[in-house]
Amino acid sequence: MTVTASPEADLDAQIGAYATRLFETGLATLEAFTISLGRELHLYDHLAAEDGLTAGELAQQAGIDARYAREWLEQQASAGYIDVTAPSEQANTRRYGLSPAAQECLLRPESLASIGPLFDLLPAINRVFPARLAHAFRTGGGIAYADYALHDAQGDFNRPAYANLLAGDWLVKIPGLVQRLGIPGARVAEIGCGEGWAAISLAQAFPEVRIDGLDNDEASIAAARKNAMQAGVGDRVKFEVADVAGELPGQIVTGSYDLVLAFEMIHDLARPVEALATMRRLGKPDAVHLVMDESVAEVFQAATENPVERLMYAASVLHCLPVGRSESPSAATGTVMRPATLSSYATEAGFSRVDTPAIEHDMFRFYHLIP
Ligand SMILES: C[S@@+](CC[C@H](N)C(=O)[O-])C[C@H]1O[C@@H](n2cnc3c(N)ncnc32)[C@H](O)[C@@H]1O
Repeated sequence: MTVTASPEADLDAQIGAYATRLFETGLATLEAFTISLGRELHLYDHLAAEDGLTAGELAQQAGIDARYAREWLEQQASAGYIDVTAPSEQANTRRYGLSPAAQECLLRPESLASIGPLFDLLPAINRVFPARLAHAFRTGGGIAYADYALHDAQGDFNRPAYANLLAGDWLVKIPGLVQRLGIPGARVAEIGCGEGWAAISLAQAFPEVRIDGLDNDEASIAAARKNAMQAGVGDRVKFEVADVAGELPGQIVTGSYDLVLAFEMIHDLARPVEALATMRRLGKPDAVHLVMDESVAEVFQAATENPVERLMYAASVLHCLPVGRSESPSAATGTVMRPATLSSYATEAGFSRVDTPAIEHDMFRFYHLIP
């Protein structure tokens, strides 16, 4: 005899599963804030000390209140983000530490495992949440990129990929490009360069290359200049504030670049077609024009299990779509820019074809635009 669940029991099970999912999402969100707080106060840096720390030692070294230090340590250890290295019934003598794996994920800015910057997005989103974001949703308006002040988090998030993969894994997949960048006088332009980590990595990999990075966010350009100086490539990598969908600074000579890059920025623009047309104008007739944007699916899918798609939709709702709509009129693209959308923008900007280079990455998709 087959026993089938009654419709009521079936609905109860669905409610239970849905409630569990929401609970887990809420819990993860609250814990994410505690990680963000730890990063803000540099608590993980102190915990990386060889013998670990008691709550009192952490409080003293990090300059925070001892009772708060104890609560944060207990919360982090209870959630399994940090370790108890010397157990004790006494809260004030218990020692805590950060495992080598946690250090790699939270404290190594160039590690491919560096995921800490994801938590630095929370204070940035908080600057506009909920009032300004809700207002944008009600009115169809936007929020300027600068108002989030998330340029450091953005830069840190992509820095590991540029430091480890850009030259050696990605650009080698474009025939002849690496050889070309090795020739004295080779020049690269990057639009929407943010804090400059891609340009800096390129300059380090190709000692002959000179690079111009453009971005309309003043804080990003200030940080990019500082980063380039500290990396020792400030003489070959220059950064300028410029709206790449508008007029370019006088020192930027169109038709003079061998490689023109737009990394994770086209989807943010109110005027993506104008920016792509700028890329086309910047390059020599035989230049490589390379766009990197999110590795989203080709078509919308409900209840997707793809975490990249879900991450990009969340980023779009909270940040990228409002940023794109901070100018009017706007293409209102959003983070989830499908390949067909980028191709239609490229065609409108005057490119004849969009090729897909054989570059594989979980988060990013690459487009080689052919003039
Ligand atoms: C998501 S961030 C990516 C930054 C950098 N490429 C990276 O990978 O970290 C997008 C960047 O595009 C810049 N941007 C947006 N609109 C722009 C415009 N019209 N002109 C120049 N830069 C722009 C933003 O200021 C921001 O730095």
